[in-house]
Formats: sequence, structure tokens, C-alpha cells
Amino acid sequence: MSNYHIKHLEEYFQVYRKSVRNPESFWEEVAEEHFVWRKRWDKVLSWDFNKPEIRWFEGAKLNITENCLDRHLPTKGDKTAIIFEPNDPKEEAQHITYKQLYERVCRMANVLTEQGISKGDRVCIYLPMIPELAVSVLACARIGAIHSVVFAGFSANALATRINDSECKMVITSDGSYRGAKTIDLKGIVDEALKSCPCVETVLVAKRINSEVKMQEGRDKWLQPLLDHAYQDCSAEVMDSEDPLFILYTSGSTGQPKGMVHTIGGYMVYTAYTFKNVFQYRDGDIYWCTADVGWITGHSYIVYGPLANGATTLMFEGIPTFPDSGRFWQVVEKHKVNQFYTAPTAIRALAKEGVEHVEACDLSSIKVLGTVGEPINEEAWHWYNETVGSKKSPIVDTWWQTETGGVMITPLPFVTPTKPTYATLPFPGIQPALMDEQGHEISGNQVEGRLCIKYPWPSIARTIWGNHQRYKDTYFSAFENMYFTGDGALRDEVGYYRITGRVDDVIIVSGHNLGTAPIEDAINEHPAVAESAIVGFPHDIKGNALYGYVTLKDVGESRDHNNLRKEINQLISDRIGPIAKLDKIQFTSGLPKTRSGKIMRRILRKIASKDTSNLGDTSTLLNPEVVQEIMDNAL
Ligand code: WTA
Repeated sequence: MSNYHIKHLEEYFQVYRKSVRNPESFWEEVAEEHFVWRKRWDKVLSWDFNKPEIRWFEGAKLNITENCLDRHLPTKGDKTAIIFEPNDPKEEAQHITYKQLYERVCRMANVLTEQGISKGDRVCIYLPMIPELAVSVLACARIGAIHSVVFAGFSANALATRINDSECKMVITSDGSYRGAKTIDLKGIVDEALKSCPCVETVLVAKRINSEVKMQEGRDKWLQPLLDHAYQDCSAEVMDSEDPLFILYTSGSTGQPKGMVHTIGGYMVYTAYTFKNVFQYRDGDIYWCTADVGWITGHSYIVYGPLANGATTLMFEGIPTFPDSGRFWQVVEKHKVNQFYTAPTAIRALAKEGVEHVEACDLSSIKVLGTVGEPINEEAWHWYNETVGSKKSPIVDTWWQTETGGVMITPLPFVTPTKPTYATLPFPGIQPALMDEQGHEISGNQVEGRLCIKYPWPSIARTIWGNHQRYKDTYFSAFENMYFTGDGALRDEVGYYRITGRVDDVIIVSGHNLGTAPIEDAINEHPAVAESAIVGFPHDIKGNALYGYVTLKDVGESRDHNNLRKEINQLISDRIGPIAKLDKIQFTSGLPKTRSGKIMRRILRKIASKDTSNLGDTSTLLNPEVVQEIMDNAL
């Protein structure tokens, strides 16, 4: 018997040892006992981190939606699969049963097929957090199309880049979206994006805000009438375990976003198994993850992981501050949420609002609290633990990445004793290593280094869409025979891990990964700008905020700097999205560079963080004098 549900610490250690001693047989047991396959695998795992090539459950046939939907129908057909909580609390919540979800997915799958989508085609989903989003994702999986969900806060330009990179044939969107008291013209953004996307043949438009939108003849179609005419059964396409399930873009330290490719079998097994244990989900529990399905957290822990376990998962359309800052707690009370999973930035923002909002609600249903997306600071951890959890609901600080597909280092609630700010212990099957800069593994405890993983796990991304070389360079070239995470970590005296943050040029702002390169490219498009560099600096609520150093082409020319700042932020907003706007913009006559012309971000980072006591040796710079100028004028 595999230990699908780990219930105490000794059992965790026993399972962990087994998973490391013989990973293949460990994962084979999990896969065999808890999922339905159309055909069994020929081989559990083949891998080579040098190529890199990783295959799990090779030769197996399945459809992930049969695991998320069909198999639950006989026993859980009337159980709620998805609770939809709308933006406006006055609008009624929806409870979608497994049977209803199955029918909606089948109808949608039939619509996709009718509209010319078949196995292997890419479909871009650009939707707000409404049920159609989950339905579209699953409908793609049903027919073997590859979904590429783009977070509906990205700009037209960012959307177009992602559509073109994976050559999507179709976009599924809505007339608009609600965001608190505002509405957003999603269809308008799609229209703008599609001016530069010749690959898109069809746009399906869901109605959400009932706004007037322009429909382009031949290309744009209202979704509902198509669904009304579609049949409510759809046989599932039989897929290979290693066929792609989806592409999800994530920022890199340089260049354009990377389309991480996840494949079906391993992703299913890992997200389902982690979901069960990380949240100690029990039948009847109501589980709520506040992320957007546009991010990996939503893919793995709103849609696939919970549904594969036959769980009830809540989808929240709104924002934490509408109609007021008590909304999260009101939703917890209303739906009697048992597991609540959010990001440190949300915790910090709500902690600032004081305890009244929390105390006004009955949170006694909460059993487990989760956090993800960035390191959680001590203060936020304690506030979460005391004010929200009344010190009785363990906090699972889950470390993982878009690339890892599922949670990698985490406490198991009621199993692993927690420690503030520590992600604690590796999940079964995960073999972390800390590396020094010379490429040696650092053994023992009370050490710090770069976090790598030594051995494949089922849900590791298999490639970057269209650029396998970049996949190799980014993740498998820094350290021999290791997956490099891009994060730093320390291991304490008992072997607990604490993630210290990114060691590359990715900056996490309010839990969103941002690469510096696309932001700098956007700034450099401004006609007055010669050059720019972006760094992060600590921010009370966002975790990090962005600080831009900008040099202008014509320094003699007197320009209104505040106006320029606005224009630059507008450009960033247009090119990437509002999440990438800069908090501070300093104009400077130059940027500190090495003699080979590389910008010394380390120095800029220190100045932005007001930590200038030890800037290191600046005399070898090409232009050491500029450092003093930047320090004197720092914001
Ligand atoms: C960071 C989100 C500290 C980390 C699932 C990682 C964290 C990046 C934690 C991936 C955590 C995520 N503690 N840092 N619990 N969780 N991170 O791809 O730097 O959006 O590399 O995936 O977020 O972000 P991504």
C-alpha cells in the first residue's frame, strides 16, 4: 500500500526514506493506487539531467479529466466541485456539482472541437476568475488541446507575446471582468493584442459584465449560444502520459517570458498527492486557494489537484479589499472554509487593516492555513497564526515554482512541527541540495547556499516551449546534474529549510515574478531614455517593490521629471501590466558598469535598499564616480 495520506511525523520520515531509496517504486505505487489509467506505463521513469530529458509513466495512456471528473460521478456526482464566489457579495454564489461540472466541460469540449480545435493545438485562455475559466482549462484537457492561460491582468502587448510564442489558434475570453468596484475591458485588450497575432483564428467570448463589445465577423463568437447547442457528453481523448497538458509563462532573469511545458501523467499524480497531504484534505472539507488560475498555484491547487481528489474548491472572483478589507474573512465564514491558502503579500496588506475585520467573522471552520509565492516574514507569519488561525491552525509555508508544478518543501499540517518563516522539510520524493558558488554540495546543517534538486519528481516541467536549449541553460547548467531553482536557502540545525529569496534577476513583487529585462525594454522605448536598470527593494506590503535607475539621452534638456516618471510607468503598464510599475524612478547621469560593460546591479540593489555601508570595491568600475552621484540623489 502506498501512503497516500500521511498522518504523523514518523510516517512522514518513513515515507520520505522510501521515496528517496527507491523513487520509481514509490511513485509507481502512488500512481497505481489512486488514479485511473487507460493503459499502464511501460517504464516509470527515464531521465538525464544533462540533455535534459525527463519522462514519467512512459507508455501510459490516460485523460486527466477522467481522473478529475468522470471517476467521481458514481459516488460524488451531487457533491459540489466548485463554489463560485462572485466579485460582488450581493450576487449569489454558485455551487457547481461534479455532475454539472462534467456536463459543462463536455459541452465546452464539444464547442472547441466544432470550432476546429484538436489534439495538440494551443488555446489561449484569457478570462477572469469565473467558472468558465476552470471549465475551459478542463475542456482543453478533455480533447488533448494544450491550454495556455494568461493572467487577465496582463496588458495587450504581454498577451500578444504569449499568444505568438506558442502559436495559439484560439483565444477564450470574456466581454469584461469585475475588479472590486471597477470593470476591465478584457475583450478590448484581446482585440488590441490580436492586431499582431496572425495565428489566432477564433475568439470565444463569455458574457460576464454585459458590456457592449465589438465582435469581429468570422473571428469572434459568443460562447453561450454555442454551449447551448453543444452535446453534454464528450468522450475523453486518450493521451500519452508525456503529452503536454499546458504551457504557462513565467518570467526569467533575461529575455522574454518562458513557456513552461507540463505533461499529463506526472503532473496529475504529483499535484493530487501533494494536495491531499499538504492541506490534509478530508472528504467534506471546503478548500479555498485565493490565487488566480492564471498562475501555477491556481492550475495545480484550484483546478487539478483538488478535483483529482474529488474535493470542493472555491473560486473567488474578487479582490481582498472589496467591498471592504474584511472580504476574505467574510467568504471564509460564509462558506465555512476549512483550508485557506494565500500569499504573504495579502496577509501583510490585511494585517495592516487591523484585527477588527478578522474579529467580525467566525473563522472557526479553518483547520489549515497556507502561504505561497515569496518568503513570509516573521511578523506576517505570527499575525496569520494568531489572528487568523487562533494558534490552532498550522501554517503550511509551501515553497515551489511554476517549473516544479507542485509543492516541494513544506510542513504537513498536524504532522510537521512548524517554525516561523521556514518551509521546513522536503515533500516525499524531493531531494534538495544546497550548493556553494564553486558548484560543490554543502553538507551538514546550519548552512546556506543555492537551492537545487538532485532527482526528478513527477511534475517537473519538461521543457520551455520552442526553446529546449534555454530550458537546459536556465535550470541544468549552473550545477552539474542538478535542477537549479534560482533561489537561495538555508538549512537549520534540525534540517529545516528556509527560502531566503531569488539569487538571480527575477524580482517577486506582491507574489508576482517579474523579470527585469522586459521592464527595462519597456522603459527604453521611451524616446527620452538612453538606458535603464531595475532592481528590487524591500517593501512593507509587496515584499519587494521596483526601483528604476534611468539615464536620459539629452541630459542638458530640462524636462519635468515627474511627468517623465508618469510616462515611463504608463509604458510599463501598456507593455507588461500594472503589476510591473515602478515605485521609485531615479534619473542619473550614468549606470555603474564593469569594464566589460555589465551593469553592476549589486551596487544598485544596495543603494535602493539603503544599505550602503559595504558597497565593495567600486574602483574597478568603468565609471566609479557615478556611484557617489547615485547615492547622493537616492530616493
Ligand atoms: C518564490 C509560485 C519563499 C521563490 C508557486 C520561487 C517562495 C518563486 C515560496 C516561484 C515560499 C514561492 N517561500 N519563496 N513559500 N513560494 N516562492 O513560479 O522565489 O510564481 O522561486 O510559483 O516564488 O514563483 P512562481
